[in-house]
Amino acid sequence: MVDISTKISGIKLKTPLMLASGILGTAGTSLKRIAVFGGASAIVTKSLGVEPRSGHKGPTIVKSIAGGLISAIGLANPGYEAFKEELDIAKEGGVPVIGSAYGFSFREYIEVAQALESYGASAVELNLSYPNVGKTGAFYGKHTELSYEVVKAVKESVNIPVFAKLTANVSDIVKVAKACEEAGVDAITAITSLEAMKIDVNTGRPVLGNKVGGLSGPCIKPIALRCVYAITKEVDVPVIGCGGITTGEDALEFIMAGAQACQIGTGILTRGITIFKKIAREMEEIMEKQGYRNLDEIRGIAH
Ligand SMILES: Cc1cc2nc3c(=O)[nH]c(=O)nc-3n(C[C@H](O)[C@H](O)[C@H](O)COP(=O)(O)O)c2cc1C
Repeated sequence: MVDISTKISGIKLKTPLMLASGILGTAGTSLKRIAVFGGASAIVTKSLGVEPRSGHKGPTIVKSIAGGLISAIGLANPGYEAFKEELDIAKEGGVPVIGSAYGFSFREYIEVAQALESYGASAVELNLSYPNVGKTGAFYGKHTELSYEVVKAVKESVNIPVFAKLTANVSDIVKVAKACEEAGVDAITAITSLEAMKIDVNTGRPVLGNKVGGLSGPCIKPIALRCVYAITKEVDVPVIGCGGITTGEDALEFIMAGAQACQIGTGILTRGITIFKKIAREMEEIMEKQGYRNLDEIRGIAH
């Protein structure tokens, strides 16, 4: 019998397979469905800010190569206050709910994180990675000192675990991860979508309303995997791998690179919301064949 349960900062997960932020994450009912029917072991909400945002003008998503998507939603969200009710519904799914927070200042990151804690989120994931909306997200994650300061500020303000979600659009993601570790982060999520674009050759114009967006899906998996491998080599906090995970083999690669858990987003488009159950089964089959009993036996063996 293979055991694929795991733990992140004291949060028990029946499998390592969590929903990534932003994919079907704006409504409590869809988050609950992904937990109950989809089999996700934890769910991360859409990134929430202080004020509601309507996001970028369309088109906001375009298909890319090899099952990939380029998206520029523009952090469309109802604001944290309006999300309380959605979070209550999401919690009915019976798995840990992780609140994703962004801000345009340290004060805003703290405000959202404190609200999510008071609503009963099991952890807060700081969005230090979103590429397309002014001075938030990647604006922080691209500056090592700002990443350090924001993590430290939020850590001092909440009691729940604090995760930092990083971008690979930096010259050295390990340096940013180390700064977050020094600031006391509880886990690192790596990575978010990669900056990208598509041009319509008939009009000669960028396809997305925002012109540029973020590439996600299977085509970014090798890049995400290398980031997880590099971070886990140098940093001692748990790492949650994210980027293109679509099959059990993908998830096992991330665990073997050193990840504690995995997040899945774009894969839902090709395999449906039960992708979490499907991947869990595939992981178990491969592990059984190879004679592995649990994830601790294989975590980081690629090092
Ligand atoms: C439509 C869409 C919306 C997203 N929104 C968010 C978001 O609000 N916050 C965030 O941290 N990441 C967001 N992401 C990034 C995903 O959480 C994930 O990091 C990225 O898509 C890579 O994983 P994947 O290849 O499994 O999708 C979004 C991705 C997509 C495709």
